[in-house]
Parts: sequence; C-alpha cells; structure tokens
Amino acid sequence: MSILKIAKIGHPVLLKKCTDIKEFSTDILKKMIYDMSETMIDYNGIGLAAPQVHLSKRVIIFRNPDIEEKEKIKITPLINPIYKTLGDEKENDWEGCLSIPGMQGLVTRYKKIRYTGFDIDGNKIDNEVEGLHARVIQHEIDHLEGILYTERLADKKAFGFEKEIIEYWKNEKTTK
Ligand code: NI
Repeated sequence: MSILKIAKIGHPVLLKKCTDIKEFSTDILKKMIYDMSETMIDYNGIGLAAPQVHLSKRVIIFRNPDIEEKEKIKITPLINPIYKTLGDEKENDWEGCLSIPGMQGLVTRYKKIRYTGFDIDGNKIDNEVEGLHARVIQHEIDHLEGILYTERLADKKAFGFEKEIIEYWKNEKTTK
C-alpha cells in the first residue's frame, strides 16, 4: 500500500468529470481503494474521492461518523455512485476538504439523500442517509463532477482559514 499525493485546489484534475469503473474485483481497483484508504487515514479525512489523488474515476471512500465507534475506523468504498435528494430540506454546516488544506467554508447541502453505487465486487449498495453522513456523500460525489465545496458556499464570505473560522465564526454566538 502507499500514501498518494493529494491534488490541491487549482489543479485541473479537480475540475474534471470522472468516468465510470467498468470492471469490478480487479487488482487495480483493489489497490486503488487500499491506497485511497491509507491516504485518507494518513491525512485524517472522513472522505476522499479518486480525483483528489489524480485519478479521474468515479470512486469515493468515506467514513460514517454517525455510526463509527471511536477506536474503530470503518471505511466504505462506493463505486460509480449517484445520489437523489429526499425532500427539499437543506442545511448549512462547516466543511473542509483535503484538497483545500487549512480552510473551511459554510456549505449548503440537502439534509436527506438516497445514494446508490457498487462495492468493490460490483454488488449494489443502496442507502438512505441524513445529516453529516449525507453531507459527506454529497461532498465526495461533487468531486466526481469536478465541483469543490467553494462553489456551494451558503455565503460567499463564509470561507477562510480554519483558525479564523473557529475564532470569528464558530465562536460568534458565545462571544457576543
Ligand atoms: Ni473534498
């Protein structure tokens, strides 16, 4: 396994639409997912999309913070994923991205979604999720369309360095 280099905002690979995986259960696909998993853990991310490691393929991996126990890391790969929104309800929350290191932005996402895709062996995955988990999936699938969260800011001004966001935006309620 190897830790892969992460593409940063400004790199054109992050703006490209990815292509579907055609063959499942292959050594290439397995290695890709192992390497992506190792990379995500090393960078302490909760989701990673293939274009972030310079591969324009419809593959994402994610952790589910809602169900994950603290010591146990459970990574789910999802291949050729799509999602549909369940209802019109949206919510805003702060997001980061390994391709935009050190920054955070307030992003609008749908609250509930249904996502489908395939596991590494081509078995169908079909889930309805909400909250943070739904947010992670929407963020990662956006990557496959060449969309970064900076395009979905709830407020163009609600973006900045993590330290400043924590100090001046997240603590706003408590300091005023
Ligand atoms: Ni990201």
